Amino acid sequence: MARVGEIPDGEGRAFDVNDVTVGVFNCGGSYFAVTDVCTHAHALLHEGSLDRVRCTIECPLHSTEFDLRTGQVLAPPATEPIATFPVRLAGDEIQVCVAPQPHGG
Ligand code: FES
Repeated sequence: MARVGEIPDGEGRAFDVNDVTVGVFNCGGSYFAVTDVCTHAHALLHEGSLDRVRCTIECPLHSTEFDLRTGQVLAPPATEPIATFPVRLAGDEIQVCVAPQPHGG
C-alpha cells in the first residue's frame, strides 16, 4: 500500500483498506496503523499532531490524545479507543492487515 519514504518521520497518511480508512504513522522509523477517524466526532487523525517520543497522535479537532501502539485514549474528550492494525514491512513496502468488513443487508 505505502512505501517506506512516502511517510516522513513524525507524519501520517490515510489509506483505504477493505473499506476502512486507516491512518499509517511513522514514529521514529516504526510504523503504526490505526483507524483514521477519531472516536469522538468526525476528524481525521492523520491530520493531527504526532508525538515522536511517546508515539501518540493528537486529534486535530478537540485534541484527544491516542496511543498509536494500543489505540487507548490518553487524554479526553474521546473515551473510546481507536482500533489498531498489525503492520509489517516487506522490503520497502508497508503492509497493513485489516480484516474485511462485513457488509450489511
Ligand atoms: S473529533 Fe477527535 S477529539 Fe473531537
